[in-house]
Amino acid sequence: MGRRICCSSSALLFLLIFSRPAFSVSSGADTLSPDGPLLDDGVTALVSSGGSFRLGFFSPNGSTNRYVGIWYNNIPHQTVVWVANRRQPITARSGNLSLTRNGTLILTGENTSALIWSSESSSASALRNPVARLLDDGNFVVQEASSNGNVDPNSFAWQSFDFPTDTFLPGMGLGKKELSTGAILNINITAWNSSTDPAPSRYAFGFDVQGDPQIFIWSDTQPYWRGGPWNGRLFSGLAEMMNRSDSVIDFKVDKNQISYRPINQSWTIVMWKLDPSGYLQLLVWIEAEQFWILSWSLPKDHCDHMSSCGPNSYCSSNVWPPCTCLPAFHPRNQRNWDLLDWSDGCMRTTPLDCQDDTDRFFTQSDTKLPDTSKSTVLNANWSFGECRALCLSNCACRAYAALNISGSGSGSGCLIWTDDLTDITVYGSGLGQDLYVKYGTANIPSAVSEALRSHSNRNILMIVVLPLAILFVACVVYSIWRRKKRSSHIDYEAEEKDMELPLFDLNTIKDATDDFSPDNKLGQGGFGPVYKGKLGDDQEIAVKRLSKTSSQGVDEFKNEITLIAKLQHRNLVKLLGCCIQGGERLLIYEYMSNGSLDTFLFGEAQTVILDWRARYNIILGVARGLLYLHHDSRLRIVHRDLKASNILLDKDMNPKISDFGMARIFGGDESVSITKRVVGTYGYMSPEYIINGIFSIKSDVFSFGVLVLEIISGKRNRDVDQSMEQLNLLGNMWIMWKEDKCLDLVDKNFSYPLSKNQVLRCVKVGLLCVQKHPEDRPTMSSVLAMLVSVDNISLLPEPKQPGFFIARLSSVSSDVSNRELVSVNQVSITEMVGR
Ligand SMILES: *[C@@H]1O[C@H](CO)[C@@H](O)[C@H](O)[C@H]1NC(C)=O
Ligand SMILES: *[C@@H]1O[C@H](CO)[C@@H](O)[C@H](O)[C@H]1NC(C)=O
Ligand SMILES: *[C@@H]1O[C@H](CO)[C@@H](O)[C@H](O)[C@H]1NC(C)=O
Ligand SMILES: *[C@@H]1O[C@H](CO)[C@@H](O)[C@H](O)[C@H]1NC(C)=O
Ligand SMILES: *[C@@H]1O[C@H](CO)[C@@H](O)[C@H](O)[C@H]1NC(C)=O
Repeated sequence: MGRRICCSSSALLFLLIFSRPAFSVSSGADTLSPDGPLLDDGVTALVSSGGSFRLGFFSPNGSTNRYVGIWYNNIPHQTVVWVANRRQPITARSGNLSLTRNGTLILTGENTSALIWSSESSSASALRNPVARLLDDGNFVVQEASSNGNVDPNSFAWQSFDFPTDTFLPGMGLGKKELSTGAILNINITAWNSSTDPAPSRYAFGFDVQGDPQIFIWSDTQPYWRGGPWNGRLFSGLAEMMNRSDSVIDFKVDKNQISYRPINQSWTIVMWKLDPSGYLQLLVWIEAEQFWILSWSLPKDHCDHMSSCGPNSYCSSNVWPPCTCLPAFHPRNQRNWDLLDWSDGCMRTTPLDCQDDTDRFFTQSDTKLPDTSKSTVLNANWSFGECRALCLSNCACRAYAALNISGSGSGSGCLIWTDDLTDITVYGSGLGQDLYVKYGTANIPSAVSEALRSHSNRNILMIVVLPLAILFVACVVYSIWRRKKRSSHIDYEAEEKDMELPLFDLNTIKDATDDFSPDNKLGQGGFGPVYKGKLGDDQEIAVKRLSKTSSQGVDEFKNEITLIAKLQHRNLVKLLGCCIQGGERLLIYEYMSNGSLDTFLFGEAQTVILDWRARYNIILGVARGLLYLHHDSRLRIVHRDLKASNILLDKDMNPKISDFGMARIFGGDESVSITKRVVGTYGYMSPEYIINGIFSIKSDVFSFGVLVLEIISGKRNRDVDQSMEQLNLLGNMWIMWKEDKCLDLVDKNFSYPLSKNQVLRCVKVGLLCVQKHPEDRPTMSSVLAMLVSVDNISLLPEPKQPGFFIARLSSVSSDVSNRELVSVNQVSITEMVGR
């Protein structure tokens, strides 16, 4: 831009040696004039007239780079609210901030002819006698010096509030601003890259004025949190925060900008900060205690993530699963929906009619209104009735709501959606707004449509869903009764037919496996060898062959075909069929080309190293599979033998749970069962199961926790670390967690984890799962919620001491890679329980 100060290096040298600035800023002044620059001498700084803010050179903690910034003058822990040269640090203490005669701020470093930063203000040239001043609200401004007679003290040629960094201060405006020159500014705040680097990161927060204006947090310009539209009282997505009795701020919102002020004038030190990981935090300085408290932080949970439930559905934080289709809508892709992938959202059950006056509205109450950035028409003057009539007559209209609810009654003004309804949250606390959604009644029985029209959501549940639910239960009861009747005369062939499990011919399988050739043997499963085979040209299969000598095997075989044939989930291994012929009992599965997880985690000759992303993916997949077994399939199933060697990996390294030979179905109310025959694998079995034979879904949760910690550490739980005083992995992790050092136990075999926070979250969830008392362990639905939510991990509960803290395994058989029967010896096993 040619703002050269010196023209040659000899002139520069001359200046350096022979000229000294006539003035420089005296410490404690609040103004910078063209007569004297602000130098990085470690002493001088501007201080605002009321003493609240200070402007000077600083280095972030842990960095030696120099920046010009503004921070609170009276807060001992330096809290920076603005940085001038955030993209371009000065590498030595050579900074020089000066104001030119025409009112431009310029910052130079060692090379005084290279511009590091400048206030690019085209209106500054109009100034005759400029001065830069640090105001007491933290705004750094360039204006006409007041000695110039009739000068408006609130008119600025340039102000730092128009170019904020990561902090939104009281009195600052975010949104759209037209400068006196006609240029349009989009004023957003952008997070620091890290706590040591103020350069802008991918996260931004601001006020988007398209449609009905809303506040957003963006990640790489994609919205990921939405505050909802302003309804005259509050942002519909911030209802919980703004309705608190100890609410600390008031927003001021107009067409183009938002700003805020503290409610209690004695709480002046309040700020919004967008932290480097993209959380928007409302912080209040407590003078008496001398620290910042976090008053609110966003996003808060799953529902706060933009469109987490897809279109035409809503999210509720306090139920599981969190996503529900709007009434009169159903999942667009039922299978994905059932697998907890809600991104496809929901579609209309009956189309809108638009002609014969058969379309109606239902009320979805207590909502954060859907995204208003597209397809909204507003009219602030219309009455509620006019809005409804307009929506009914306009075929494109999908829903409407009141624009302003600050008065009494149902509100005023008209907000209309003409596109899919996205990102709706239902609070469940009565803080949200009513949304009126249009639906077609052409094919709905009139009683139902009447109910939809005149009742709120809860009543719809009673009238529509309840009869359906009763019908469903009746069907289930009938089919269970039917199955019970059949199974009383067990006969494999008959049972097989009942389950529609394909029956393979023995010769086909013999061909596929080369007559069970030893070359095709993959390994030894629970009740016999497993062979690889090939059906036709391309379908690869795995064949499990029941040993003829095993009597135990018959039960497990039966168990496996009755159970797994009913289950369908992408994280469960798929049973293709079975074969019962000529004394052979075979199970045929899809082939998993990458084998079992244990070879990747603990194998001697690891050929492929699992990176963190792959490991995290495996943890999530296993959690989803287990959640399906425990809660989502029509039967409640406890696997009882979850371990690394039972997790198989397909060609894309997606995990699938296998080996249901010991799984148990739990009936209706049954949640705990007791067995005299404790089976399972040491290292994965929960204390209550080994000691008392009690098993429940919580014993699977324990095994899952062990698996998670093994995946993270690459060590087997049952391998005792000699150097750690006979501690097993659980004990080790627990102690390191307590000492805040558990990252030391992370598998050294993968390159540095992508996200330390994600690793720590997994460790914490793992430790929660292996707690000694089953009632302390989370269910798989909360495990999954904890794994996928982005909340601060300190908000997760603190784990208590794990079961089997200290292991003295020397007395137990060491070869446990195959499942083995364990006879319970109360004495020796009790010894293993942690104290
Ligand atoms: C202000 O002064 C600087 C250097 O003194 C110059 O580079 C810049 O172009 C000037 N700006 C205007 C708007 O005159
Ligand atoms: C600081 O910068 C101004 C303007 O670029 C210059 O006039 C002044 O000599 C510089 N001071 C020092 C000590 O480098
Ligand atoms: C100083 O900066 C100017 C402008 O960027 C550049 O042309 C010059 O080479 C630099 N001088 C030194 C000594 O780096
Ligand atoms: C602020 O966000 C809006 C909305 O995405 C965007 O259009 C604008 O460019 C952003 N402005 C800045 C300075 O990042
Ligand atoms: C404002 O805060 C001060 C100090 O916390 C408190 O003493 C005072 O009662 C508050 N005023 C109001 C109106 O809440």
